[in-house]
Amino acid sequence: MCGIIGIISQTNVSERLLDGLKRLEYRGYDSAGIATLFDGHSIDRRRAEGKLENLIALVGRNPLEGTIGIGHTRWATHGHVTENNAHPMANTIVSVVHNGIIENFATLKEALQAKGCVFTSDTDTEVVMHLVSEAIKEGFSPLAAVQHTLTIVKGAFALAFIFSDHPDLLIAARKGSPLVLGITENELFVGSDAIALAPWVRTVCYLEEGDIAALTVKDGKSNVIILNESGATVQRPFRQTNITTDSISKGDYTHYMLKEIFEQPQTISDTVQSLISLEDTSFHAPLLAIPTTFDHIRIIACGTSFYAGYVAKYWFEKWAHIRTEVEIASEFRYRSPVFDGKTLNIFISQSGETIDTLSALLLVKSKNEPTIAIVNVPESSIAREADLVIQTMVGPEIGVASTKAFTAQLAILATLCLKFAKDKQTIAPDEWKHYFESLIHIPSVISELLRNDDVYQQLATHIYHVQHALYLGRGLNFPIALEGALKLKEISYIHAEGYPAGELKHGPIALIDHTMPVIVLAPDDEWFDKTLSNIQEILVRGAKVIVFTSKEGADKIAKQTKGIPCLGVVILPKTNSFTTPLLYTVPLQLLAYYTAYAKGTDVDQPRNLAKSVTVE
Ligand code: AGP
Repeated sequence: MCGIIGIISQTNVSERLLDGLKRLEYRGYDSAGIATLFDGHSIDRRRAEGKLENLIALVGRNPLEGTIGIGHTRWATHGHVTENNAHPMANTIVSVVHNGIIENFATLKEALQAKGCVFTSDTDTEVVMHLVSEAIKEGFSPLAAVQHTLTIVKGAFALAFIFSDHPDLLIAARKGSPLVLGITENELFVGSDAIALAPWVRTVCYLEEGDIAALTVKDGKSNVIILNESGATVQRPFRQTNITTDSISKGDYTHYMLKEIFEQPQTISDTVQSLISLEDTSFHAPLLAIPTTFDHIRIIACGTSFYAGYVAKYWFEKWAHIRTEVEIASEFRYRSPVFDGKTLNIFISQSGETIDTLSALLLVKSKNEPTIAIVNVPESSIAREADLVIQTMVGPEIGVASTKAFTAQLAILATLCLKFAKDKQTIAPDEWKHYFESLIHIPSVISELLRNDDVYQQLATHIYHVQHALYLGRGLNFPIALEGALKLKEISYIHAEGYPAGELKHGPIALIDHTMPVIVLAPDDEWFDKTLSNIQEILVRGAKVIVFTSKEGADKIAKQTKGIPCLGVVILPKTNSFTTPLLYTVPLQLLAYYTAYAKGTDVDQPRNLAKSVTVE
């Protein structure tokens, strides 16, 4: 949610601020703005509702001068999507951009209003602006004013400030939301992530919780001072980032999402090979560091990451005989869960910043149970808090709808299942080898599937105009049906529900008529015959049925549904049931993508969605 960028340079920064915001668009936003110090003394700003193009056009008509500035993409929390509520907030003393929520803003606002402060927006951020400027009026230096303000505000946030009459000072603060500094000899940058800074810096420094950084560029020399939560000067490690503009380019693809779908053979392979040796099947660190003494597993996540965890429940229980619970983080943290000290907790998050997953992790840690994080961003808050981190090796995922991160999460969980099964000797060595080989082989099976993506474009022409769709699956592929329905909802705005096929007669069958597309996952596995009966039940009720199955499955369907054709029977390459979730995910991603494409929605930045959900 919300993106922050800040630059101190010796040349005009407004174009680069806009460029940085462009790379933060993927996080999700509904308005944007930039502010600079005009003439080195007074704050000037431009803000616009809606897409960044509106702000870019505004700055084109009415340019902003200045060698220091901050910029922001806002995902509205407090106050409507209006220019007035867009950041930067500014008065004549300070300008600030903010990601997160100031929880005690209402009380603070009342107190500030009583003191005579006039509020011009409905945002919680404006409280921060007034607190800082009031402190400066009382004689505090800008740094002391920010420090003082952070002792008053409560919540999780990232902030960046510039100050009138301080053309060489930018202050950034982190508490709960990530901020990264970009460092060169004569310019300094701050961003919500390293992607924002990709073209300008190789050296970055991630702020720690509670840090305040004072960035200055004087006489062409940059300097960074970082204070920790107790006000002591600290050194944070500088590291080299490998995120380049190439690694975040769309290439020849129409959308990031399509590019990321097509990257999956590589990303799954990279992820599996980071964990297990193909030569001798030995496991690499960090899998070797996983505790071995636990009775059961609890997996906690949100959204798509939750569905990856749901598949793992089937894997871990069937092949490693480990009782596994899957928990939605926002429910788990507010229930009264029972902690027995014998549970291994796995947190799954692409961004590593999802507030509910992070809070659930902190809760579990406070109960002294072991924690593992499966994340795509190793510097993220969830990665920093977990006892052990396993990284999905997919590079930045820019499309808001998660695709390659999901299949890499599945790849890690499948590998973990193989590890647990080996440790506990729950499957025979031959069977183990068979599953291991199918996991290693799955990227090439997916490549084969991706060669025929025109079939999904065809199917999309039949469903892009519908209002609702049902997805059915059984066993390991029931969570994939849930994920398929979520993908369609997210990017095409078609209402879609995933159900276990066996639940059909317990309610959802009432929805079936000739307008309802039903997408059925029917690999030729131990549940196939039951799913085939469900297919017949919905066909005779007139639904438009699309089935994903194997060649053998398609033959059986053709035999048994004579005279009532499905809208489509898509034949997928054969694999064993262990790896079907990885394979059957991909057609659902393509179907969602081409449906949204046919409908003309904003595939990479669907309305109202944010890439990392950093507020509740
Ligand atoms: C995925 O397509 C969604 N945008 C969303 O459900 C996402 O998976 C969820 O918000 C969790 O995010 P995380 O993996 O970054 O924690």
